[in-house]
Amino acid sequence: MRAARLSDRNLLRLIAGVDPDENEDLFALARKARKKHYGNGVYFRGLIEITNYCRNDCYYCGLRRSNAKLERYRLSLEEILACCRAGDRLGYKTFVLQGGDDPQLNDTRAVEIITAVRREFPGHALTLSFGERSRESYAAFFAAGGNRYLLRHESASEEHYARLHPPDMNPAARKECLRNLKDIGFQTGAGFMVGSPFQTPENLLEDLRFLEELQPQMIGIGPFIPHKDTPFGGAGAGSLILTLKMVALARIMLPKALIPATTALGTIAPDGWEQGLKAGANVIMPNLTPMAARRLYALYDNKVSAGDGAETLDYLADRIRTAGFTPEMGRGDALE
Ligand code: 5AD
Repeated sequence: MRAARLSDRNLLRLIAGVDPDENEDLFALARKARKKHYGNGVYFRGLIEITNYCRNDCYYCGLRRSNAKLERYRLSLEEILACCRAGDRLGYKTFVLQGGDDPQLNDTRAVEIITAVRREFPGHALTLSFGERSRESYAAFFAAGGNRYLLRHESASEEHYARLHPPDMNPAARKECLRNLKDIGFQTGAGFMVGSPFQTPENLLEDLRFLEELQPQMIGIGPFIPHKDTPFGGAGAGSLILTLKMVALARIMLPKALIPATTALGTIAPDGWEQGLKAGANVIMPNLTPMAARRLYALYDNKVSAGDGAETLDYLADRIRTAGFTPEMGRGDALE
């Protein structure tokens, strides 16, 4: 089976399939693709959640602006740098700065942060996740020293996207941002949730086809998990197995991509990360956010979070070795 050539019909059959043997075959194929390009390594990225303010009102996300129950925070530049220093001491070579779409995180402020991190850590990879911006803003972030950018497309289908987001957001704008990011030279990450309300197998097929067309260097896929203070608070979570299948298909179709075993995957099952790695993922993103802020970065309910010290890193590295993989603390840039 060469999934790059899989027809829509076959892909839909795999997405909808419930045969455990067929799923195991899919995971084995994904592992083989990962191994061919990356061996058994699993790259560590230090995640720093710098603000939970958000101007957007996505129906699924706990950070949405209409969630008045959430206490909001913003890390100072000094706090962000302190997280980076702590991460650096632990051996992290990639920092991922992630935020809600915070109106105060304007270009000036973002460039100030990027410049400061870049000055102190000239050799580290710096990944940004600052939402939708103009091409000029992205170019300024790149010039200031950003290397990578995460912006999930959330849903490639116009119709499904419109059921997850208010009318002032649209998938064409998202896709345009992703193309601009790639064009500017960012290693670019797209992705989507699995099992979000109203999602159909056809929607997931469209997500895979979009990834195939965009050829992002990174792909984030996790299950939808309800957050009680959102319009989708009463919906069921996405399924573990379907999420693993989408990770595997993404790996098979874009074999060189860097694909994390996401926090959401680790939240819906105690061995979710291990299962993600066994389905073709090769990145893990431990959280370096200060504990007090971390509990406020509540995208969904019961978000898992380990500690942030050396013990946690050892514990995660142990879990990865036990699952048969090798922890990699290098930058782990995209191939090519
Ligand atoms: N469940 C799972 N993932 C979520 N995200 C936001 N809200 C949820 C949720 N309820 C994901 C989105 C976003 C990323 C930062 O987190 O895909 O891009």
